[in-house]
Parts: sequence; structure tokens; C-alpha cells
Amino acid sequence: MAHFISPKNIYHGAGSLKHLNEIIKDLQVKSVFLLVDPMIKELGVIDSILVQLDKYHIKVEISTDVVPEPTLYIGDQIVDKVRKTEVELVIGVGGGSALDLAKVAAVLGKNEGKVEDYLNLKKKKRFTNKGLPKVLIPTTSGTGSEVTDIAVFSLENTKDVITHENLLADYAIVDPELTYTLPPKITAASGIDALTHAIEAYTSVHSTALTDTLALDAMGRIYKHIRNAVWNSHDKEAREQMALGSLIAGLSFYNAGVAGVHGLAYPLGGLFKIPHGESNAVLLPYVYGHIWSSCLAKMTNIAKAFNLPIDGKSDQEIAMDVVQRLQDLVREVGLPTSLKEYDIHLDDIMILAENGMKQTRLLNRSPKPLDIKDIQEIYTSAYKGQLVNDDGKE
Ligand SMILES: [Fe+2]
Repeated sequence: MAHFISPKNIYHGAGSLKHLNEIIKDLQVKSVFLLVDPMIKELGVIDSILVQLDKYHIKVEISTDVVPEPTLYIGDQIVDKVRKTEVELVIGVGGGSALDLAKVAAVLGKNEGKVEDYLNLKKKKRFTNKGLPKVLIPTTSGTGSEVTDIAVFSLENTKDVITHENLLADYAIVDPELTYTLPPKITAASGIDALTHAIEAYTSVHSTALTDTLALDAMGRIYKHIRNAVWNSHDKEAREQMALGSLIAGLSFYNAGVAGVHGLAYPLGGLFKIPHGESNAVLLPYVYGHIWSSCLAKMTNIAKAFNLPIDGKSDQEIAMDVVQRLQDLVREVGLPTSLKEYDIHLDDIMILAENGMKQTRLLNRSPKPLDIKDIQEIYTSAYKGQLVNDDGKE
């Protein structure tokens, strides 16, 4: 038996932003809190949204308080702004941070307490109010935040999340046209994040037939189109496929969960401020280099989704080829493939491992249980940028 959850309304495809008109009409709201990434506002991406809102004489409170890897302080600041206004709808526009903050602002805006009170590791308070309706509009193809009920916050040494169904979008609009101006590095990092969502959901111990189907579809689209999206930013087909791949991966991982890559990436974000997508990218090949034998049949299906040659190869050879291709892909899209490149030292591995171990919610979904020794080995391979086979040979 399985249960699958997703937002009720998802609009996707080039030009789908125009559906905001219908949403505004349906909800009959008079005032909106529009939370937007400052860079996205600068690029004029919200201009057409403002035109649509103006058409219905909607009062708009614009906030650009979005920062990458947001802290609790930023979260509380935005929640306070929503509480002080009489807004009836929250619209989030931007990357994962903007969308996560919009979810929290919409829900905490109508609940008491601080962001910290609702964190997964603390759980001091429970929501008593569903919160304001929310429309989430991603401008990157990566986080999948528009279809999940998760909001991530940076703490001192690591990260933690608020996860609750109240945070789920009422409407998600995934319009690839909003990603045309995305620079190569962000396209690469968010694209590898989306690929990681698909792969981790697929090998998660909580995967289902439905999440597997979505995950394989997403990883095929992303693996095929990510290079073009990164290096030919106006390739409309590549942008469309990346937007779709990211959305589909989001639906899959929201239900099956992500695991070791994300769990071990959190301390890289918390301690070394490495952006989310990059911290996943620098670990993805090494986590799978360590765990592939625990999900051998699935590694073969990943190879098929990537369209890799598999004839005449053993399952082990295919799995190791997938791992090697992941490392190649991270390099091909221009991202670092070792922790050394981030000025992280061997001495840092202990504290990274200790913090990584705390992410039990994520680690518990790994097909291979990961203890402190496994985690140290993964960080060490990632530090050196060297894949280690299951037999320990480099
Ligand atoms: Fe992610």
C-alpha cells in the first residue's frame, strides 16, 4: 500500500505564468504579499506578474528579503511582515529559498510563535491554523520546492527543516520562460540538485511504483538536457525539459524522500556556506560510489534512464559506470568535484561527519545504512575527488 501527495493545482509549460490571472479571479483576493528573490526582481521577471495583479486592482506588498540558505532570523523577519499586513494571499517567486520562505510566511503568518518552534529537530509547537493560500512560482529548475511541504533553514553548523502539509502550495506554476536568464552556474547547481532528488527518491527505502516511474522519467530528461541548458542558456527545449524534469523529480522526492546525499550536504551548507545544489553535486558521485552495491538493480535502471551502453556488462560494471558518469557530469556542467576546491581540509571531516550523522530523518532512507565510518569515508573520497569502489580500491 502506498500514499502519494501533491499540490492540487500545477500549471507547467512555456507561458503558463498567464494562469495567475485565473487563480487571482478564483480566489477573489484583494491584497497579496509578493516575496521575490532580489536578483529576480532586478531582472524584471516579476513585471508581468505585477501587470496581472494590477489588472484586478490588487494591493501588492513586495518583499525582497530573500537570501540564499536563509537563517531563522530572516524567516522570522518575513513572517513578521506578513503578520503586520492584511494580505490574503502569498506569492513566492524565485529559487528554493524564496519559495521555502513564502511557504513559511503564509503559514506562520496565521500561527503563533517563531520559525524555530516548528523545526523538525525541535517540534516545540504545532500549527493550529492552515495559513494563507499560496502560489509558488520557481525561477530555477532544481529545488522542486513548489511541490513539496518542506522549508529548509540554515543553523549554525547544519540545516533543519519545517515539514508540514500546511506548507504545500495551493497553486504551483512552473514556467520555463522564467529560467531563460538564469546564469550557467545556477543552472548547473540547481539542475544537479534536481537530478539528485530523482536518484535519491528512486533508491530511497520509501520509494513506490509511482515515485519510481516519476524519478526515472525525471533523471532521463535532466541527464539528457542539463548540459545544453547550462551552456546554451536560450535553448528553449533544454529549458523546458529541465523545468519539467525538476518538477517531476520534486513530486517523486516529496513522496519517497531524499537520503544520504542531502543529509551529508547539509553540514557543507551549514559549516562552509556552500550553496545547496553545489553541496549535493560535490557529494553525489561519492555517496553512490559508496552505496551502489545496496541498490544494484536500480543502478542498472538508472543507466538505462541515462541511455548508457549496458550490453555485455555485469551489474557491477554498469553501477560503477553510472557513478563515474555522475562525476563526469558534475565536471561537465562546470561545478567542483572535490571538497578541496572549497578550501575544506582533511581536519574538517570529523566535524562534518558528526553533523551529518544527526540527519537521521534523511539517512534512514538510504538503501545502505550509513554509520560514522561510512560517512567519514564518503567525505574523504569527496575531499580527494576520488571515487572508491566497494572493495575499497581507488
Ligand atoms: Fe535538494
